[in-house]
Amino acid sequence: MPSAQALMERLGRYPKVSLAVKPTPLEPLFRLGRALGGLRLWVKRDDLTGLGGGGNKVRKLEYLLGEALARGADTLITTGAWQSNHARQSAAAAARLGLACHLLLSPARPQAGPACTRGGNLLLDRLLGARIHRLEQDEEPMAAMERMAAELASQGARPYIIPRGGTCLLGDLGYAECAVELLTQARAQGIHLDRVVLASGSGGSHAGLVAGFHALGEAVRVTGIAVRASAQEQRPLVARLAAHAAETLGAAAAFKAEAVDVTDAYLGAGYGEPTELMKEALALAAGTEGLLLDPVYTGKAMAGLVDLVRKGGIGRDETVVFLHTGGLPGLFAYADMFP
Ligand SMILES: Cc1ncc(COP(=O)(O)O)c(C=O)c1O
Repeated sequence: MPSAQALMERLGRYPKVSLAVKPTPLEPLFRLGRALGGLRLWVKRDDLTGLGGGGNKVRKLEYLLGEALARGADTLITTGAWQSNHARQSAAAAARLGLACHLLLSPARPQAGPACTRGGNLLLDRLLGARIHRLEQDEEPMAAMERMAAELASQGARPYIIPRGGTCLLGDLGYAECAVELLTQARAQGIHLDRVVLASGSGGSHAGLVAGFHALGEAVRVTGIAVRASAQEQRPLVARLAAHAAETLGAAAAFKAEAVDVTDAYLGAGYGEPTELMKEALALAAGTEGLLLDPVYTGKAMAGLVDLVRKGGIGRDETVVFLHTGGLPGLFAYADMFP
């Protein structure tokens, strides 16, 4: 198995742009751990990656933008939900690097109020100089982005398309790198990691971590709390992405797709739909630790962690890291969920 240094050297073969404040802090959550009956609980603060308000996508964008610049791109195109954190972080990366940015966003729900249609991430997208385009309901996002890229290229631009969530091999490598960073920090602080819990959306962060730990030969369990799709869809998606990343890292052997750990028990009625457990988890993290979560991703991930501990799915003898993937602007967009 390659060492952390060997893995970083392998990752160093890819062009990369420095965008994130790293390493992000690894902090104890003593009070929350006690509230959960004595769990050894830590948080990896990837909400503090810095650029454009921070979040997990900045790590992915370091690799994606590395390729974009190497290809001479001057324009970014990406897609997401109306309140996409990924879109906002991509807009920030474009601003930082002097690129134009076009965001193709699925419209907010018809009943959404102004906080959602104009506030939160959308306010920041505009402030960051991105051009916002509405994806029509029947439009396939990748096809729409390709059409836009062709149109912009015909006007002389050099566009670079980033897939939804920044999830693709290059983006996922950002989270293999995070696995190295987290293990190095844990060792330095004398922590033996048993498990990481995170929100699993487009799946790239989850897959990158799984691949990174696998490549390092570390038996850290990565529990993905599905926030977009059923476990039946999410597990093979993450397994495929992780296998690809593991192969790229020279660690394809012995990768077990069936070991990918996903639960959809905290998804509720679907992506962005609130649940009572999510609201309870938001209040618990805020009230015990001053730790702010969002309703779409990290709130549901924390709901999963809390409930799994209460029901014994996560043992109180484990050392658990909650990966905080950011998303705070979304809290303000969905303020009406909290009467
Ligand atoms: C705050 C936040 N957490 C988690 C995720 C999920 O990450 P991934 O799409 O890599 O699964 C996202 C994706 O948009 C996000 O914005």
